[in-house]
Amino acid sequence: MTRPAPASHRHGALRNLLGIADLGPDIAAGIAEVMRLTDSFVEVSERAIPKVPALRGRTVVSLFFEDSTRTRLSFETAAKRLSADTMNFSVSTSSVKKGESLRDTIETIEAMGVDAIVVRHASAGVPRQIAHWASSAVINAGDGWHEHPTQALLDCYTIRQHLGELSGRHITIVGDIKHSRVARSNIAAFTALGADVTVVAPPTLLPPSLEGWPVKVAHDLDAVLPGTDVCYLLRMQRERMTEALIPSLREYTARYGLTEERADRLAEHALIMHPGPMNRGVEIAADVAERPNAVIVDQVRNGVAVRMAVLFLLLGSGTEWGGEPDA
Ligand code: NCD
Repeated sequence: MTRPAPASHRHGALRNLLGIADLGPDIAAGIAEVMRLTDSFVEVSERAIPKVPALRGRTVVSLFFEDSTRTRLSFETAAKRLSADTMNFSVSTSSVKKGESLRDTIETIEAMGVDAIVVRHASAGVPRQIAHWASSAVINAGDGWHEHPTQALLDCYTIRQHLGELSGRHITIVGDIKHSRVARSNIAAFTALGADVTVVAPPTLLPPSLEGWPVKVAHDLDAVLPGTDVCYLLRMQRERMTEALIPSLREYTARYGLTEERADRLAEHALIMHPGPMNRGVEIAADVAERPNAVIVDQVRNGVAVRMAVLFLLLGSGTEWGGEPDA
């Protein structure tokens, strides 16, 4: 295999992945391309040695300004399975604590010769700002309430794996829509693939205006569940709430939680999904998360292959990946 071209000479249209719109003017085609590559990386992940040399010599740095378990580990695993070198930047042990500015931090990281920066930050727009300064590829791993594109891609992949194409499917997203970057990226991706999306939440957990959002709004979850193909639950993002938006968690669960009784209203084929971390007993009953149609573990598993696909699209040589085993 020839050595991948340096980052500055990358082929292909995808330069950064900051949001779903970056997948191109035809978002559905962009998602299809990621799905196609993901299929081959799922196959790699199932090998005895789940590693290929596709990104040998490339360096991927994770820059997480906000807590994360699965997303950070998932990107790191994905980069390692592609034979890229990985660096981990943890804010609590870095010079950011000494007051170093974001721009200086990026300059320092880039001076070490990295090819991709995976960034998570509590403020919307930070990954775009970094992309403006950096010559490496930038991947948004979640910015504030804004976007979390790789989560949406792994969710599309998981739905397709279980139900086939998303077109015409009814997807219900339940919970704290207002503070959710997952909801924003998922709505963009699901609707681009032709799914119908309904959001269900108390009015205080919806954005002030839903104008321009391609979704239906409902407040009665029980009425919506029987016609739902995918019930997607969101965590109550208490760290983003500056005021009391719900009377109590117990009351929230009573009206909007996926309890055992509510889960029984779902069709047999309907999927139960959650991006994690789950608050069992709040948005989802503990045992409901263990039902056979709950695919939460599949979401995590597929996340690695999807992120391999994204890293390969951004950093690969632009030629078709041939599926070579590690040398
Ligand atoms: C989400 C996130 O951080 O945006 N989790 C994730 O990445 N899987 C959702 C959440 O925190 O509730």
